[in-house]
Amino acid sequence: MCGIVGFVGKREASPILIEGLSKLEYRGYDSAGVAILDGDKLNVTKCKGRLANLEDKLETTPLKGCVGIGHTRWATHGEPSDLNSHPHTTEDGTISVVHNGIIENYIHLREWLMTKGYNFASETDTEVIPHLVDYFYDGDLTDAVMKAVAKMEGSYAIGVVCSKEPDKVVAVRKDSPLIVGLGKEESFIASDIPAILNHTRDIYLLNDKEFVVMTKDGVKLLSEEGEEIKRDIYHVTWNADAAEKGGFEHFMIKEIHEQPKVIKDTMTSRIMPGKPVTLDDIKITKEQIENIDKIYIVACGTAYHAGVVGKYVIEKLARIPVEIEVASEFRYRDPIINERTLMMVISQSGETADTLAALREAKKQGARVIAVTNVVGSSVSREADDVLYTWAGPEIAVASTKAYVTQLIAMYMIALFFAENKKTISEETIDQIKKEMLTLPEKAEKVLENKETIQKFTAKTYMHKDMFFLGRGLDYAVAMEGSLKLKEISYIHSEAYAGGELKHGPIALIEKGTIVIAGATQEDLFDKMVSNIKEVKTRGANVLGITCEGHDEIEKTVDSALYIPKVMDILSPVVSVIPLQLLSYYMAIQKGCDVDKPRNLAKSVTVE
Ligand code: F6R
Repeated sequence: MCGIVGFVGKREASPILIEGLSKLEYRGYDSAGVAILDGDKLNVTKCKGRLANLEDKLETTPLKGCVGIGHTRWATHGEPSDLNSHPHTTEDGTISVVHNGIIENYIHLREWLMTKGYNFASETDTEVIPHLVDYFYDGDLTDAVMKAVAKMEGSYAIGVVCSKEPDKVVAVRKDSPLIVGLGKEESFIASDIPAILNHTRDIYLLNDKEFVVMTKDGVKLLSEEGEEIKRDIYHVTWNADAAEKGGFEHFMIKEIHEQPKVIKDTMTSRIMPGKPVTLDDIKITKEQIENIDKIYIVACGTAYHAGVVGKYVIEKLARIPVEIEVASEFRYRDPIINERTLMMVISQSGETADTLAALREAKKQGARVIAVTNVVGSSVSREADDVLYTWAGPEIAVASTKAYVTQLIAMYMIALFFAENKKTISEETIDQIKKEMLTLPEKAEKVLENKETIQKFTAKTYMHKDMFFLGRGLDYAVAMEGSLKLKEISYIHSEAYAGGELKHGPIALIEKGTIVIAGATQEDLFDKMVSNIKEVKTRGANVLGITCEGHDEIEKTVDSALYIPKVMDILSPVVSVIPLQLLSYYMAIQKGCDVDKPRNLAKSVTVE
């Protein structure tokens, strides 16, 4: 939630902050603002709405200065409004703060600060921070921020500027992401790497409760005890282009088209027929694998749906019982965990608050934790025992697409890795799966070439208010993801059901013209699925059937048919999800929705 940036250098801060915020808008876009120091004068401009509104304001009244902070907001405490926008500033206009996270004890701090004579202008939790810093300020901003942070509970990445120390930005993080960019005679802070990638590739990754002091002389990292920390520089190797639209109209469609490449990247040097699966950062031993009696896969949203596929393939290939659960439920229900439990968390961002909390809970109770994440140095990657990186590159669109398919690849690789160690399936079968996995990029490419059926179908159906996704086995797992995609970007209500479950209630909702999208890619379940399709057809549904090439007989049952290349049953989700991603994209386009910035959503949910 929310994106923050900060800059200290010799160049004008305003365009650099705005450019950084534009790369962070995926984190929230309810309001935006900047605070820039012009000598010892602190100027703040902020307003409700998209970043474009702030840009208009700055065009009319530019802010000069080479030191500043900026913010793009996803509202939690206080509605989106000019007043609730960040930066928040002290009444005397000397200290300004941007914040990503939630100050959980803000009510208590607010009341306490009011007894000290401070007045509050907004409804936000954040506003306590500038007042706290002011309360502790005694000529040293770093010291005041440290004292303020010691009083704060909750999650935060903050950037602070003060007109009495006009060449400085002080920042700190706890449970919210923050990185430091190291340029030539300039430095940056940001919630995420793309925000600074046009200026530098050298960054510091920060741990919780580490402080950053940026001045014209450089960057200092301090521990909460105030001791200087030495940190290796992390050099970003991917291109800034990877975070640009590259000729596509939206990030989402660009990312959908990147899937053949990222599927390949995620498998490269890990999957080779005739050789064991190689997962560099997974150090778990053969003995430890043999000792596992249960795996929990815990994640949120799309990552959870990848976990549903993970359960199926790990149980099938490695014969270890797997429970899959959404992180927000897992953390509060006293799950049964011991040293024989393996916890697997899946998180594109690696910063999702519920997933991180579930990871911590499992570790506390003695479980070993494997993190599957897309972001190097993210919180889950640092706190887990083992990490498997998905190489999807930066995912900017709020609706996750390319991260999902790489998470699926991660699930297959882990299942094969366990199966090899436990010898639960023959070497021939393992090799056959690996060979078939290596054909997935090409098959994904073929699906992308065949968009027309989807475009025609969406042009005829986009005005419907409800849709159903059906599937059996792995097609049901994919149906859940298809349904989520459709809801989040086109605002069409949809439900995903297991084909056999529909008649136990929801079939009552099927009437003439109801749109049903039915997946029938699983060879063993094809006939059963066709029977389920007939059940809805008989009640008047308009059905789009998705199956593998060679199953033309489906055309006798459905209204429109879409074929994906023939693929081994367990691997089909990687290919069959693509038409559903395209379907949601074109539905949203037909409806004129803002695809990359769907209402009420943010890319990274770093609050509970
Ligand atoms: C849906 C979507 C979300 C995320 C969820 C978890 O398109 O993007 O459902 O999948 O918020 O995010 P991560 O994977 O970053 O933990």
